[in-house]
Amino acid sequence: MEHSLTKILFLLIAGIANGVKFQQWERLEGKMKHVSVGALGVWGINSGGTLFRLDGKTWTQIDPSGWLTVSSGGEYIWATRTDHSIRKGDGENWQVVSGGLVQIEASRKNNVWAVNRSNQIYRYNGINWTMTSGRLQQITSGASGVWGTTSGHVTYYRPYTYGDQETTGGDWQVISVTPPMKWVASGDDLVLAIDRSGNLYYRNGINVSQPTGTSWVKVEGVPLLKQVDVYYSVVMAVDTEDNIWSNIIQY
Ligand SMILES: *[C@@H]1O[C@H](CO)[C@@H](O)[C@H](O)[C@H]1NC(C)=O
Ligand SMILES: *[C@@H]1O[C@H](CO)[C@@H](O)[C@H](O)[C@H]1NC(C)=O
Ligand SMILES: *[C@@H]1O[C@H](CO)[C@@H](O)[C@H](O)[C@H]1NC(C)=O
Repeated sequence: MEHSLTKILFLLIAGIANGVKFQQWERLEGKMKHVSVGALGVWGINSGGTLFRLDGKTWTQIDPSGWLTVSSGGEYIWATRTDHSIRKGDGENWQVVSGGLVQIEASRKNNVWAVNRSNQIYRYNGINWTMTSGRLQQITSGASGVWGTTSGHVTYYRPYTYGDQETTGGDWQVISVTPPMKWVASGDDLVLAIDRSGNLYYRNGINVSQPTGTSWVKVEGVPLLKQVDVYYSVVMAVDTEDNIWSNIIQY
């Protein structure tokens, strides 16, 4: 009895210590189907494929059409176009990078990972794309390392990438089969995830000695989401109706 009470108290305290606190969600103006937050600001793509940058509270149109995904990295903004061609730039000038990719993510330490149409996985080595083992439909590269989801909604972590390390890492490690995740975003001792139905979760208990964390915790009070990104304490997300939401989290 005494033992279990101590255990409950410990779990409560540990829960508070590890917990992530979301504040009131704030809705931004406009509609986007995809958003990214990073060292080079907040970027978005609407349903028409128009690329925008958030300046203060308003979206500035950067380019009219043909954009598929964007990632605000440490040194460059990386983006894919609907024809799967690749762009890298500072926001004003864009360079074409060879290859054909569907989604790219650049971390703040410039660790760039990507997936192509066949769900093959690539890492940019500074010169070109090197393929790694496995298949993922979506990938994230950030402070909690490289994580991804498969087309069957299984979540994976790339060992030794915790801390945004410049490495190809070890062999993919299964994190979970349920909830069936469709999108993951790697933050600081935190991974956010969206399940197939649009529910938002965070991975609890991530730290240097336990980079895969302990469990998924569902976040209440947010609409069903399509996509999410996190940079330090800033969370940006789009819901299933393309409304844009932001939150500042506390650890
Ligand atoms: C991605 O997949 C296509 C086939 O769908 C393949 O031809 C291509 O080489 C792959 N890699 C890149 C970086 O485009
Ligand atoms: C890609 O980069 C690696 C490492 O620098 C190099 O060994 C390889 O030849 C390059 N491949 C192509 C196709 O350029
Ligand atoms: C990492 O987290 C685990 C459980 O979530 C905890 O037991 C451990 O003390 C933590 N380690 C560090 C270095 O914070």
